[in-house]
Order: sequence, then structure tokens, then C-alpha cells
Amino acid sequence: MTGVVSYEDRLKGFDWSLGEKELGITKDGPINIGWLCTDRICRMGLGQKTGFIWEGSEGAVRTYTFDRLRVLSNTLARFLEKHGVAAGDRVCLFMDRVPELYIGLIGILKRGAIAQPLFSAFGEDSLKVRILDAETKAIITQRKHIFKVRRMRDSTPSLTHVFVVDGGAEGLKPGEYPLDLEAEPPVEEYAVHPTTAETPSILHYTSGTTGKPKGAQHVHYSVVSQYLTTKWVLDLKPDDIYWCNADPGWVTGTSYGIIGPWVTGTTQVVGDFGFSSDRWYEFIEKHRVTVWYSAPTAIRLLMRDGDAPVKKRDLSCLRHLCSVGEPLNAEGVIWSREVFGLPFHDTFWQTETGSIVIANYPGMVIKPGSMGKPFPGITATVVDPKTFEPITVPGRVGLIALRPGWPSMMRTYWRNPTTYQSKFKNGWYLCGDRASIDKDGYFWFVGRDDDVINTGGHLVGPFEIESALIEHKSVAESAAVAKPDHVNMEVVKAFVVLKPGFEPGDDLELEIMNFIRKRLSPLAMPQEIEFVAKLPKTRSGKIVRRILRAKEFGEPIGDVSTVMED
Ligand code: PRX
Repeated sequence: MTGVVSYEDRLKGFDWSLGEKELGITKDGPINIGWLCTDRICRMGLGQKTGFIWEGSEGAVRTYTFDRLRVLSNTLARFLEKHGVAAGDRVCLFMDRVPELYIGLIGILKRGAIAQPLFSAFGEDSLKVRILDAETKAIITQRKHIFKVRRMRDSTPSLTHVFVVDGGAEGLKPGEYPLDLEAEPPVEEYAVHPTTAETPSILHYTSGTTGKPKGAQHVHYSVVSQYLTTKWVLDLKPDDIYWCNADPGWVTGTSYGIIGPWVTGTTQVVGDFGFSSDRWYEFIEKHRVTVWYSAPTAIRLLMRDGDAPVKKRDLSCLRHLCSVGEPLNAEGVIWSREVFGLPFHDTFWQTETGSIVIANYPGMVIKPGSMGKPFPGITATVVDPKTFEPITVPGRVGLIALRPGWPSMMRTYWRNPTTYQSKFKNGWYLCGDRASIDKDGYFWFVGRDDDVINTGGHLVGPFEIESALIEHKSVAESAAVAKPDHVNMEVVKAFVVLKPGFEPGDDLELEIMNFIRKRLSPLAMPQEIEFVAKLPKTRSGKIVRRILRAKEFGEPIGDVSTVMED
């Protein structure tokens, strides 16, 4: 590949301050991601460049220059300020992928508030848990989702403001306000809040095995990592048209679906529609997408639909493909080479890491099925699960461990420092994943090291599902585990122990499913419920989901020494 600086050359003398220099910021000075993504780009003379092309589900297209993004995000920041949103307040974004979601994030950051993006597909319970935890002050939403917000408002006292981006003021209730960005007086100049490196920026909720979802708290300094990884791994260049098909409810959709492209002054396209191979290829062809960041589940779906839909289109515009979220099967890389003439480059990272930490770098030899090598500035290894010492034997499986201190590392879990601390052992941050490293330094993913379920690249914690199940009158106990799936890699399966007096059967399964459907997001919905007489537990009474999971996967059950006997 021409014009690509080699991985080895990037490693030489690497220092994160390189990113600071290119962005014109210093660790002690003001740093505001919202400003860097819009005002700075305009000051570089790119105000009239298209920053954002949005296509709605019905095919409507809206185009925004960087200057328009600057003014609209100013307008939103001023609007929040007028309504009493102060610096540090949490403002939730609860919308489909409409322009207000993208501009909203930038505006919230300019105001100095903390953005809390949540999937609009969340059910009211999933929403409520996160709003309660963050003590969110305001939520920006659409009419179509307001009913979910209304249903939880009585139990979320911190939530004083609901801003609705469509439909005007009609029918709104007290505490609900219309937010029509186009109708608001445009704010040409806005005094961006003087945030600095360590000012909190985004709160991204992620699920673990136990307890409620945790808010990974990021800061404005994260932009240094996001900027450099966008340039060097996603390889964005001034003339690129970039498409990241992740939703900003997920960290990929903010780090690389908003910040990465805009802080590098790149034109990005967004489609507010779900998966369809025909529509996706048409979208790439129509907008002349050059760089595409996708996910293995989507790639598997595209593979399933075969080469015919690809052949109908002229996709010669594509020049670089990347993937994240789950293991990218070697077949996916080989297939994309065949049909697009380009391999998907697997990248590995997490909500907590804030940016790509292990990647197949452009120009690097790809070993299909491997996640590649650590990004410059990232010290990554695999450690022994008992001693937490690095494993030096190539091919031996251990826990993925990172040396803390890169710019976009989460700073804590929101008001949960104990769980945050528990992620560190022997000076390493543990990702909760298992992998091995080969003799050439390539990382090979093996699996999660906990009970978290990865369905289509989305992490689902068993706790939320089990909590919803237990609310049903018939359920005494439950356990949610992963079950293999050829498209989503994993789906949720629930095991349920019934209370006395209830009989297992299809009718009850349907009734429980309907009951939890209102509470959970579609992603977290079990595909199947199995009624069992009891659940495997440790002597201390903890459910051992690993045993249930191993059975689903047809794997050996492993160490059961702490599991209670019959
Ligand atoms: O288990 C790993 C898996 O997704 C987890 C992180 O999920 P989340 O915080 O939702 O962020 C996802 C997008 C950044 C990881 O701990 N994961 C992510 N990328 C890969 C992966 N598993 C295998 N290969 C990957 N490339």
C-alpha cells in the first residue's frame, strides 16, 4: 500500500504528545472535544467542507458543512444553558440515528455537560436503571420514544428536563420542551465551556456479570487517542467519505462515529436504517464511501446474502475496511478480499478503553482471524490468570492486559470506584477477555473471561435479564447465559426455576417473554427459556453460569470444585 507509514516506523519514538501537537492542544490548556470537532476544523479553512451526510430510513438526505455543524451545536449548547443545564450535568441522548443525536453530542460537550448516549431501542427498565445511576438532569429524545421516558419519570427525580426534537410543543407535558434546532435563533459565536484534559465528557454504560450496568466515564483528553487511531488505523484522509455503521449508543458510534471523523475534518455519512445488504451496498455506491467501519455480525449477514447483491453495484469507491466488536472469523477476511478486493481489518477495544488498542494496521500483513498488534503507545500483553504475570510462551492463552495510562482510558466507573479498582491486577488493566499472542506478536482472541454475553457485538449482562425475569410472578430464580448463534455469534438463553404452583409450558414461556419484552432492549431478549428444577451454584450460593453456558456450547465444564453437589 502506498502512502502508508509502516507499523514499525510509527512505533519508533512514539509519544502521545504527537496527537496533542497536531491538534494544537496542551495537557494544561483548554481541551473541548465539541470545539475541536467543529470550530477548529472551520478555523483550518474547512468550514464549507461537507462534514455530515445523513440519510433517513425513507431515503431523505440532509447535508451539513462543518460550519453548519459548528453553528447548530452552538445553538444546542446555548439552548441547554438557557434551560439551566450546567457544566457537569448529565444529559442523555435517547434517539434514533437522527442528525440531532450527532449534533447533540457536540453541543452537550460544548456546554461542558456530560453526554450519556443510550440506545433508543432500550426498554423503559434499561433506560431507567441508567438514568437513576447517572442522576441524569435532561434527556434529548424523539416523539416516538417519549412514552418510555414518561413511564419512568415518576421514579427518576433528577430528570427535570425532557427535550423533544420533533413535533413542536403540541401535546407536551410539564417539564417537556420542544427543541427545534432549525427554528432556534442560530448562535454564531458561543463561549465554549473551558473544559480541560480531565473534565468528564461522555458516560457510556456497559454491562458486566454482576450488578447494574456501569458508566465508563471518559474525559476530553480522550480525543488524543481517538484522533491518532482514526488517522492511523482507520486511515482517514482529507478526501475520504467515511461510514461507521455503529449506533452512538455504543462506544464505537461516538469514538469513531462522531469524534474520530470530525476531529480529523473528514466527511462522514450516516444511515438511519437497519441491516439490509441491498440497501447497504446501495448506500456505499450512492455516497461513494471510501472507508467503512463495520462489525462481524454485519459481515456474516452480508456473507450469508452472497456475492450477487455486491455484483449489482459499483463499489470500487471502497479503499479501506475495518471491523470491531466480536471476533472476526478468518472466513470474513477471506470473503471480503474476494468480493471487495479488500480485507476487513479487525480492531479490538472496549467501552472502557475509549479507542482502538489492538489492530490490524493498514499496510501490516494480516493473519486472518487475528486481532493484530497493539497500537503504538499501548503496552498490551496476556497475563497468567493466577499470578497476573505476563505470559512469554507464544500461543499460550492468558488474560488480555493493558498498561494503564493512554489518553482515552476511562477514568472510573461513574460513582463506582470499587468496581473500577477491581479491574486492575499487578499494575495491569484487565479487559475481561482471553487471548494468546503468537511468535510474531499478533493477538488471537479466545473468548470472554466472564459471563457477559456478546450478541452481535453488543455486550449484555446476565444481571439485567435475570432482574427482569425475577419480577414475573412465576419466577423463583433465573440465569441468563450465552448460546451459540451462527449470525450473532451468541444469543441469550434463560434458565428459569419456577415458584411452587406454576407449571412449565409453552404458554408460560410466552407469557414471561411478553412480560420482559417491555423491560429489556431487543438485544437482551432471550431467544429461549428453559425451565429447570434448580440452577448450579457455588457453596456460597452464587449461580455458576459457566456450567450452563458450557453445555450450550458443547464444551467441557471445567473446574467444578466449588460447585455444590446434589
Ligand atoms: O469481548 C471483547 C469484544 O467486545 C468487548 C468490548 O465490548 P464493548 O465495551 O461493548 O465495546 C465494543 C466496541 C469497542 C471486548 O472486551 N470485542 C471487541 N472487539 C473485539 C472483541 N472480541 C474479539 N475481537 C474483537 N476485535
